[in-house]
Amino acid sequence: MARIPDRFIDELLARVDIVEVIERRVPLKKAGREWTACCPFHNERTPSFYVSPAKQFFHCFGCGAHGSAIKFLMDFERLDFQDAIEELAQPLGLSVPYEGGGDRGPGELSPLYGVLDEAANWFRDELARNAEAMAYCMQRGLDAETLQRFRIGWAPGHWDGLLRALGGGAAKLQWMEQAGLVARNEQGRWYDRFRDRLMIPILDRRGRVIAFGGRVIDKREGAGSGPKYLNSPETALFHKGRELFGLWQVRQASSTVERIVVVEGYLDAIALHQHGMPIAVATLGTSTTAEHAELLFRAAPDVVFCFDGDRAGRAAAWRALESTLPRLRDGRQAFFLFLPEGEDPDSLVRQEGGSAFVERLADAMPLSQYFFDHLAADVNTSTIDGRARLAERARPLLARLPDGAFRDLMQVALRERTGVTLTPPPLPATHSGAGQGSLDRAPASNRRSLVREAIAALLADPALAGTVSPPWAFASLDRPGIGLLAELLDVARARPGAPVAALLEHFASRPEANALNRLAMVTYPEGHDLRADFQGALSRLNQQARGARFEALARRLQQQGLDAQEKAEYLALHALRRQGQA
Ligand code: UTP
Ligand code: MN
Repeated sequence: MARIPDRFIDELLARVDIVEVIERRVPLKKAGREWTACCPFHNERTPSFYVSPAKQFFHCFGCGAHGSAIKFLMDFERLDFQDAIEELAQPLGLSVPYEGGGDRGPGELSPLYGVLDEAANWFRDELARNAEAMAYCMQRGLDAETLQRFRIGWAPGHWDGLLRALGGGAAKLQWMEQAGLVARNEQGRWYDRFRDRLMIPILDRRGRVIAFGGRVIDKREGAGSGPKYLNSPETALFHKGRELFGLWQVRQASSTVERIVVVEGYLDAIALHQHGMPIAVATLGTSTTAEHAELLFRAAPDVVFCFDGDRAGRAAAWRALESTLPRLRDGRQAFFLFLPEGEDPDSLVRQEGGSAFVERLADAMPLSQYFFDHLAADVNTSTIDGRARLAERARPLLARLPDGAFRDLMQVALRERTGVTLTPPPLPATHSGAGQGSLDRAPASNRRSLVREAIAALLADPALAGTVSPPWAFASLDRPGIGLLAELLDVARARPGAPVAALLEHFASRPEANALNRLAMVTYPEGHDLRADFQGALSRLNQQARGARFEALARRLQQQGLDAQEKAEYLALHALRRQGQA
């Protein structure tokens, strides 16, 4: 297995600035010595994603995602380890050394890119040589610049045209097979997978050819020559549910795209590019997946889904909506554009020109409208029953929206239409008492509870746990967060010296995690006496617990009497109470 030596990785990480790497993809805000953002790996309203320039690490207190610049690129850009390293090394002018060899890693994959690239070049040259194929391109209105920009080519009709053109030995044949370019028949003979087709390369996010779509140009499309479009099979490089045709060209056209348009066909996307809208991508004969939705929103904040106005188009649009809902963080918007029946973006721009299509895009229906129109389509909302049904249908879908202002607005919209209020999602136990948002920096009028005060101090300095010892008298109090405080103390005492991040990770999958993360963000002024805060809060809690216990025992004494042990406890508490300690 070809591997990248550790010393190179160390050198790379020493030279890369993780803040810069992340900032280019997720806008960061300065927070003291660190940088922060809403986490790109889970949905949240308040930032718990931190990047530390000193440690060259990112960490999300909300979902626990963490790691180096390499890990960030792997997770965010879905790169494998070696690609992430290549991506980081490139701008620094470092070339990545590989040791070993063997059959995995770039030792395996880079020849695949190589043969696909060679194939694309050969197809392109073949197109120039084939008059019939060129005529088809002209008839479809594709100009020379577009043919070049999309690297469109032609696969001739021979069984072994590409095989002979790329030549090479057994190893190369294998790469071509793994790249999905050739296949073997029952007699064991190799043949070209794509024949007599217009070849449209599919590029990955780094502009490398990873697959092809091939279209027949025969009038009798489908007749004896297979499906209208033949796509590369899924390979190590190509997973169609994860790729969007045209995204590379969109990125090449502009580094900041406000809006991206998703269409159904290769030639629809290409036509829009050619007509002045280099913002179009196409799914590859599949419905829009959640992965597509994420890719789209990473490319642009506004996404317009464009579908045929027919039944199939409407069904596909609704599936796209369902995939999109969980990705609709604040700042992201989805729109739906339904085209007149019988038309597609390609036919429309060729008839009415680019600017008419731009107007259609501007008029696209916001997701919220499509959502309610669709759900209410067969419901009479002037009746109570109808409104109840609409609310029933909307409820599970709205629950998929990430927490945020958009979700709130959709719930308001539902209430306006139905009069039904959806109950807000349950808050973690420690939330009750103080309103949301007051957990971190509580306004003076709404001071943090003693429990929160103790937890916040402990998270600011976990070593405080060593200044107190169990048993935890306060644990008997029936109060939100009491159990959490006791557990946090135990964990911190069991792991002296553990960083806050480690303590938080212990609770990462628990419902209290969010509240804890907010408390971890509480900042104290310089020179603040944290220890006094912490011990003050704990001793007041202990005092309250003793007071409550004393009262319970006093009640019992009157009602049914106490046993010897209880009596001793009662007397001890009584004495403490006299001293003002309970
Ligand atoms: P359409 O059949 O709607 O074709 O397929 P189109 O995009 O309008 O293509 P032209 O204009 O006739 O050339 C839409 C998309 O569905 C996938 C392709 O990705 C195509 O672009 N498809 C279609 C296939 O994968 N295989 C097929 O046989 C047909
Ligand atoms: Mn078409």
